[in-house]
Amino acid sequence: MPSTKPFLSEAILAILICCFLQPAIAQVTDPFEVDALKNIWSSLIDPKGNLNNWKSGDPCTSNWTGVICYNTTSRDGYLHIKELQLLKMNLSGNLVPELGHLSHLKILDFMWNQINGSIPKEIGNITTLELLLLNGNNLTGSLPEELGNLPNLDRIQIDQNHISGQLPKSFANLNKTKHFHMNNNSISGQIPRELSRLPSLVHFLLDNNNLSGHIPPEFSQLPKLLILQLDNNNFSGSSIPDSFGNISTLLKLSLRNCSLQGPIPDLSKVPKLGYLDLSWNQLTGSIPSNKLSDNITTMDFQNNNLTTISDTLNPPANVSIWLYRNPVCSNASQLNILQLCRPETNEQRNSSNVDNVDINCGPCPTVDYEYNPLSPFSCFCSVPLHVWICSVEESGIFQF
Ligand SMILES: *[C@@H]1O[C@H](CO)[C@@H](O)[C@H](O)[C@H]1NC(C)=O
Ligand SMILES: *[C@@H]1O[C@H](CO)[C@@H](O)[C@H](O)[C@H]1NC(C)=O
Ligand SMILES: *[C@@H]1O[C@H](CO)[C@@H](O)[C@H](O)[C@H]1NC(C)=O
Ligand SMILES: *[C@@H]1O[C@H](CO)[C@@H](O)[C@H](O)[C@H]1NC(C)=O
Ligand SMILES: *[C@@H]1O[C@H](CO)[C@@H](O)[C@H](O)[C@H]1NC(C)=O
Ligand SMILES: *[C@@H]1O[C@H](CO)[C@@H](O)[C@H](O)[C@H]1NC(C)=O
Ligand SMILES: *[C@@H]1O[C@H](CO)[C@@H](O)[C@H](O)[C@H]1NC(C)=O
Ligand SMILES: *[C@@H]1O[C@H](CO)[C@@H](O)[C@H](O)[C@H]1NC(C)=O
Ligand SMILES: *[C@@H]1O[C@H](CO)[C@@H](O)[C@H](O)[C@H]1NC(C)=O
Ligand SMILES: *[C@@H]1O[C@H](CO)[C@@H](O)[C@H](O)[C@H]1NC(C)=O
Ligand SMILES: *[C@@H]1O[C@H](CO)[C@@H](O)[C@H](O)[C@H]1NC(C)=O
Ligand SMILES: *[C@@H]1O[C@H](CO)[C@@H](O)[C@H](O)[C@H]1NC(C)=O
Repeated sequence: MPSTKPFLSEAILAILICCFLQPAIAQVTDPFEVDALKNIWSSLIDPKGNLNNWKSGDPCTSNWTGVICYNTTSRDGYLHIKELQLLKMNLSGNLVPELGHLSHLKILDFMWNQINGSIPKEIGNITTLELLLLNGNNLTGSLPEELGNLPNLDRIQIDQNHISGQLPKSFANLNKTKHFHMNNNSISGQIPRELSRLPSLVHFLLDNNNLSGHIPPEFSQLPKLLILQLDNNNFSGSSIPDSFGNISTLLKLSLRNCSLQGPIPDLSKVPKLGYLDLSWNQLTGSIPSNKLSDNITTMDFQNNNLTTISDTLNPPANVSIWLYRNPVCSNASQLNILQLCRPETNEQRNSSNVDNVDINCGPCPTVDYEYNPLSPFSCFCSVPLHVWICSVEESGIFQF
């Protein structure tokens, strides 16, 4: 091994000369990333010319629209791209595999355009990625399992597209992901029970998809789950897992129109449950007689097959309970029960409904910010929002 040492010191010297001792050079973007941007641009359709300034100059130093770079040169001598913020730019066309070449990227944001085609699996190469925001486009195809390789991903937001296929089991590796926003797609099949080991998961929004099979009982082990929203799926014949009575963190459980059968489990030990929607299923048996959380505001059991109700059910006055279209209503004689059996008016539904409230919240302005944990159904960030990023107000779904 005698030759190793001299060789190493020569190499170190070469690196020193190359990186530190050279006269100052103009700051430029990594050419590999510049090529990637050119490829990305060439497969986008940009009718409003929002990206016209991508035609010349350097992305980081000539202020290309939507391209945000690290403000210092990295050790390789180049500037790297930190964020691609192309929200609401009237873009159509496709996403190209070269997106995966933006290897220092933290935010990839194409929200609210009309991009079609599929999600490139190469995005799974961007190990720095923290926010993947593709909601509100026309994306098709399935979710690439390679996205499970993103160790720093905080949020995957692909709701309101036409994504099909199954949820990849590999997503169980997304150790840092807090938000799964995938509602309003055509995702099908069984929810993998492996996802129950996601240590950071807070919001699991897969309502309005084509899921079948059963709701994994193992989800009760998710240590941080606040919102579980699976409305309008087809878990035909399966029941709500009994283990859900143990999810101590849960604030909202929404399983409207999920083809669920069987009894309602004991949810009295879900201390913070504020919103429970089990309407439009074929649930049987009794309305839970035990006291639900002090924080409950809504319990919607409409359109089920519930036959009995506890005599002791004596909810606080400000709780909305809906029993309309259950056998229990045709047998009821007590006034306090009959009151709960009235059909809900649209106004009442709108005022009590927190369905989908959270879905359209854009991310907070940077990854350092979070939704205010004290207002779980709202889009308030802990610092003022930049409207241009959070499209909530314009979308009209901002209710709180
Ligand atoms: C970058 O361009 C935007 C408009 O695209 C403009 O508002 C901003 O002032 C420019 N910044 C610099 C440093 O040129
Ligand atoms: C460069 O970016 C870092 C964070 O990425 C920030 O803390 C710092 O203030 C920025 N410096 C300049 C000169 O903008
Ligand atoms: C997108 O298109 C709509 C309708 O033509 C227009 O009102 C809006 O200003 C456009 N926005 C951008 C950023 O191009
Ligand atoms: C995207 O949409 C355009 C028309 O809007 C269509 O011609 C093209 O085939 C679509 N591409 C994919 C990959 O779906
Ligand atoms: C990027 O991802 C593709 C497909 O996922 C893979 O084949 C390729 O090796 C990756 N490239 C790098 C540089 O990691
Ligand atoms: C995107 O989908 C909407 C309806 O889902 C359709 O009206 C629109 O033409 C599509 N746009 C493109 C570019 O495919
Ligand atoms: C996620 O955490 C598990 C358990 O701590 C670990 O085995 C796994 O390697 C981690 N995955 C990643 C991608 O870091
Ligand atoms: C999701 O789909 C449902 C059913 O089609 C629809 O009622 C709802 O408005 C959609 N939500 C969003 C946010 O698009
Ligand atoms: C839902 O899945 C069924 C098969 O389970 C399929 O026949 C149907 O076309 C799917 N619907 C949508 C909207 O994807
Ligand atoms: C739900 O799935 C069952 C088969 O498992 C099927 O018979 C039924 O039509 C589906 N319902 C809907 C609304 O897709
Ligand atoms: C109601 O919610 C508040 C705030 O989340 C919490 O501190 C309190 O413990 C909850 N009530 C019960 C009975 O758990
Ligand atoms: C309701 O439950 C009864 C038994 O309690 C059963 O005979 C009936 O078929 C159920 N109806 C529906 C629509 O599930």
